[in-house]
Amino acid sequence: MLDQYSVLGKAPGIEDLKKLSSSGNTHLTINNLNAGYGKMEILHNFDLFVDKAQSLCLIGPNGAGKSTILHSIYGFTSIFSGKIEIDGKDITNLTPAEKLKNVGIAYILQDNSVFPDMTVEENLLMGGYIKDKTDESYEEAEKIFQKYDRLRNRRNQPAKVLSGGERRLLEISRALVMKPSVLLVDEPSIGLEPKYIEMVFEILRDLQQNEKKTIILVEQNAKKGLEFADIGYVLVSGETAIAGKGDDLLSNPDVGRLFLGG
Ligand SMILES: Nc1ncnc2c1ncn2[C@@H]1O[C@H](COP(=O)(O)OP(=O)(O)O)[C@@H](O)[C@H]1O
Ligand SMILES: [Mg+2]
Repeated sequence: MLDQYSVLGKAPGIEDLKKLSSSGNTHLTINNLNAGYGKMEILHNFDLFVDKAQSLCLIGPNGAGKSTILHSIYGFTSIFSGKIEIDGKDITNLTPAEKLKNVGIAYILQDNSVFPDMTVEENLLMGGYIKDKTDESYEEAEKIFQKYDRLRNRRNQPAKVLSGGERRLLEISRALVMKPSVLLVDEPSIGLEPKYIEMVFEILRDLQQNEKKTIILVEQNAKKGLEFADIGYVLVSGETAIAGKGDDLLSNPDVGRLFLGG
């Protein structure tokens, strides 16, 4: 299984990865991270650099450790060594609650994390449960309703009336209540009909371009993920085998053959 990746050649070095986030305004940095679950190491000497308002997509085979990268950024894993920084501040050992509240990193829960019998508005306000100032949560929720009429039109109805795409929108919006600067998004297209997949990527694009969110996503649909993202990393066995601009990876023959069905 591993042999087929040996054709990929030399793994990208730190300087290669830095170049991809080249505005000089690196927002989130992972340096030489070794992390996993319990005593098991899943990520090996992993590095990542992403600027403010940039998007980075992680692709790769099942079990490569893509979700584990998001989990490590958010604080769900055992970190054995290495460093995670935001704007140069060490956040490696903060708890998820601290990440969300003090640092502005949000992990977008998905896969039926919407409470079906609570209203759309109640679901949205859950996103601010950790905030001290509930007024602010209401203000943010109101902004979200102004922006997304799909949610506004249903705000007092139970969330179970939403379509699959609208539920995903609610899951994303719930994270926005905390006004995060970084969104961690695990497989936003999973389980969605094609028309909703487009919608979800349009929402993420708007959040990146107009609200200057930094977006790190994992996507099984490598083509969609790389079309969306500025930067792509191909993860194999807990290490980055290939990294490049999203567009360049789309036309990379190795990536095409292995991940794009080319
Ligand atoms: N909570 C967990 N506890 C123990 N091992 C886990 C846990 N989550 C994932 N793993 C293991 O970590 C490895 C990487 O998983 P994951 O990051 O979910 O891969 P990917 O998202 O690339 O499919 C797999 O071998 C998986 O079995
Ligand atoms: Mg995963």
